[in-house]
Amino acid sequence: MKTVGVGLLGFGTVGTGVIRLLNQDQPQVEQSTGYHISIEKVLVSDLNKERKIHIDKNLLTINPDDVLDNPNIDIIIEVMGGVEQTRNYLHRAFQNKKHVVTANKDLLAVYGPELLQAAKDHGCDLYYEASVAGGIPILRSLTDGLAADRIQKIIGIVNGTTNYILSKMAREPVSYEQALGEAQSLGFAEADPTSDVEGLDAARKMVILSHLAYSIPVDLDDVTIEGITGVEREDILYSQKLGYAIKLVGVTETANGQIDIRVSPTLLPSTHPLAAVENENNAVYVYGEAVGETMFYGPGAGELPTATAVVSDLISVVRNLSLDVNGHHIFIPSKEKQCVSSET
Ligand code: NAP
Ligand code: HSE
Repeated sequence: MKTVGVGLLGFGTVGTGVIRLLNQDQPQVEQSTGYHISIEKVLVSDLNKERKIHIDKNLLTINPDDVLDNPNIDIIIEVMGGVEQTRNYLHRAFQNKKHVVTANKDLLAVYGPELLQAAKDHGCDLYYEASVAGGIPILRSLTDGLAADRIQKIIGIVNGTTNYILSKMAREPVSYEQALGEAQSLGFAEADPTSDVEGLDAARKMVILSHLAYSIPVDLDDVTIEGITGVEREDILYSQKLGYAIKLVGVTETANGQIDIRVSPTLLPSTHPLAAVENENNAVYVYGEAVGETMFYGPGAGELPTATAVVSDLISVVRNLSLDVNGHHIFIPSKEKQCVSSET
């Protein structure tokens, strides 16, 4: 069996899940792609940190060149986070003819169109299913499943951390700080959870969804954002008594050529399907002109749900690698350092 070389940028919550899944499911991945996935290098910031799963220490590096310039690597999985430095790494990856899978919504909400263009210019793929709603394949649903429709509006709970905090506080006598601490230790929160609780993470995801839904680049600065830091447990309990749940909801809609995106804590009648979305789960309603209303639901954050989206993207890239435009298998070994995407 031929081998595809993969490099990871990052080995935290999501990176660990990716290695765990690849270790567990290698036979399934091999069967579905026809190729063996070989992890060649993993970039971390601290070589001495204790890791949650076993990994050959020789694979770890603190030198990004070991991944970005590695001739044995065809595909880079970016799960380190960050924006400006990561943007540079991805440009370098494309220049070196490497395909990229990323979970980084911070990066994509700002530089998505630029990076997609860079990938295209170098004949590479850029996949980012994990960047929105964790394990829910919502991006594929928009680009493939609903490709024939005109999307008018999307409403979603797209941040697992805040949904975990709000639903925990609704059920149990825990403080905001306790609930946030749990979301952090469970691996749902960002390295700096400010972006979760202040609504920026949800706003970034709504920007990515809007871009795909309307095929128009959208500016993050145009999003109206309010987070949950002002929500008290008393507010949640009082709302419950009145028959409502408080959820952090993102809305994006088009009307008269304008796009309106907003994220805010919202009172939902307890009979509303979004009111029943608990813990780190996410749900996304998509309103299409032809299809009407569709709803997608599932885990929105955490190690394995997110890793599932990343590894599914990896499988898509490997399948693309192995096909030419006529659908014939034409795998080019990694050491030849060439990129062949479905678009070439
Ligand atoms: P994390 O647990 O903080 O892991 C980050 C990893 O990247 C760590 O291994 C860290 O190294 C490494 N790293 C960070 N900055 C680095 C740098 N400058 N140079 C070298 N290595 C660096 O983060 P995560 O939760 O896995 O999230 C990773 C990405 O996925 C982020 O973009 C996040 O927004 C996105 N995401 C996360 C989730 C989730 O549920 N956690 C879901 C969807 C998307 P050390 O291990 O040595 O510290
Ligand atoms: N911090 C993010 C969340 C991770 O809680 O939704 C998933 O994108």
